[in-house]
Amino acid sequence: MPICCRDEARNPARSRPSAWLRRDRPPNLEAILSRRALITGITGQDGSYLAEYLATQGYEVYGLVRGQQNPRVRQLRQLLGEVRLIRGDLLDQGSLISAVERVQPDEVYNLAAISYVPMSWQQAELTADVTGLGVLRVLEAIRVCSGISASRSPGRGQIRFYQASSSEMFGMVRESPQTEQTPFHPRSPYGVAKAYGHFLTQNYRESYGMFAVSGILFNHESPRRGAEFVTRKISLGVAKIKLGYERQLRLGNLSARRDWGFAGDYVRAMHLMLGQDEPVDYVIGTGVTHSVEDLLDHAFKVADLDWRDHVVTDAAFIRPAEVDKLCADPSAAREHIGWEPKMAFEELIAMMVEADLELLSSGGHAEESFGDAW
Ligand code: NAP
Ligand code: GDD
Repeated sequence: MPICCRDEARNPARSRPSAWLRRDRPPNLEAILSRRALITGITGQDGSYLAEYLATQGYEVYGLVRGQQNPRVRQLRQLLGEVRLIRGDLLDQGSLISAVERVQPDEVYNLAAISYVPMSWQQAELTADVTGLGVLRVLEAIRVCSGISASRSPGRGQIRFYQASSSEMFGMVRESPQTEQTPFHPRSPYGVAKAYGHFLTQNYRESYGMFAVSGILFNHESPRRGAEFVTRKISLGVAKIKLGYERQLRLGNLSARRDWGFAGDYVRAMHLMLGQDEPVDYVIGTGVTHSVEDLLDHAFKVADLDWRDHVVTDAAFIRPAEVDKLCADPSAAREHIGWEPKMAFEELIAMMVEADLELLSSGGHAEESFGDAW
C-alpha cells in the first residue's frame, strides 16, 4: 500500500492568496479547473510559491514530502490551506511510483534536490543520488504508471513533466549571456548532477515521446529563501546588525556575479513551459547581473548601514571551484511563452531586508520565516 498523508484541512487564516500573486488570476478557470499537479520539493522555496500559484490557477495541488517528522510540513500547512501531501522520497523508486499512481497527475514538477552548492562537495554521492538519479526515478515513475515503453508511446492527455534545471550547469561559461544553446561546463558536483538530470529529461522526450521539459533557471530569491544562500544570509545579517544582535557578517567571494530574480516570477515560467504545444526547454533569468558587493551595497543601504563597516571575508566560505559570473539571455522565453520577470533586483533585495527586519523585530527566527506574508 502506498503511504499517504492526504491533508485536505483548510487553513481559515488563508482566505486570500498571498500578495505577490493577487494580480495573477487565471484567464479561463473553467478550462483547467480539474487539472492535478504533483510537486516534488514542495517544502522548498520554489515548491511553496508554485503550489500557491497553481492553486490560484484552479489546480488541485499535491506535494511529495519526505521523512517521518518533516518540520517544514507544519509551516507548509500554515501557508497553503489546499495542498494535499503524499509521502515519498527521491531516493525511493517505489514511493514515487505509488505517488504518481495515487495522484494521477496531469503535470509533475520535479523541484526536489539537494540544492545548496557547497554541500555537494561535502556529500557528493548523496547529491548525485538525489539531484541526479532522483530525476531518473521520477521519470521512470511516470513512464511505468503511464504504460510507456520503447514500442508504446504516450497517448493524448499524457502526464507532462517539468525538471528544475539550473544555470549552475553553465559553470565556467563559454559565452555571455547564456542561452539555450550555450554548452555546459559545471563546476560543482551539484552542477554535474543537474546536467545529468537535464540530459536525461531530453533523452526521455526523444526516446519515449514524453512531454518532458527543463527550465534552465538562474538564481531566484525571496523572503522564503533558505538562510544558507547568499541573498538571505545577507538580508538576515543586515537585520541582525541593524537590531543590534550582531556586529559582523562573514562571507566568501564578494566578486562573484549572479543574475538574481524573484522566485514568484520564476514559478510562472515553470507553468507556462508545461502549457506549450510542444516540449521545449528555456533559459529563465532577468538578463541583468550583479556582484555580491552590489548586493551588499543595496541590502545595507535599505537599513541605512555601510557594508564596509561590517563585512568580513572568511576563507571558510570560498568554494573549491567557483562560478564567477552568470547572466541569462531570456529572449526565447519572452518570445515563445510570453514570460517576463516583473520584479527588479533592487525591489527584491529591499523586500527581503524589510521582511527579515520585521521577522526578527517581532521575535521570529529564520527557520520560521516560511509562513511570511509573501
Ligand atoms: P530548496 O528550497 O532547497 O528545496 C529543495 C526541496 O527538495 C525541499 O523541499 C526538500 O525537502 C526537497 N528534497 C531534498 N531531498 C529530497 C529527497 N531525497 N526526496 C524528496 N525531496 C527532497 O530549493 P529551491 O530553491 O526551492 O529550488 C527548487 C529546485 O530548483 C531545486 O531542484 C534546485 O536545485 C533548482 N534550482 C533552484 C534555483 C534557485 O535559485 N532557487 C535555480 C535553479 C535551479 P525537505 O524539506 O524534506 O528537505
Ligand atoms: N551561500 C553563500 N554564502 N554564497 C556566498 C557567500 C556565503 O557566505 N559569500 C559569497 N558567496 C557567493 C558564492 O560563492 C556564489 O558565487 C554566490 O555568492 C551565490 O551563492 P549562493 O547564494 O549559495 O547560490 P549559488 O549560485 O551557488 O546556487 C544557487 O543558484 C543556482 C542557480 O544558479 C542555488 O539556488 C542552486 O540550487 C541553483 O541551481
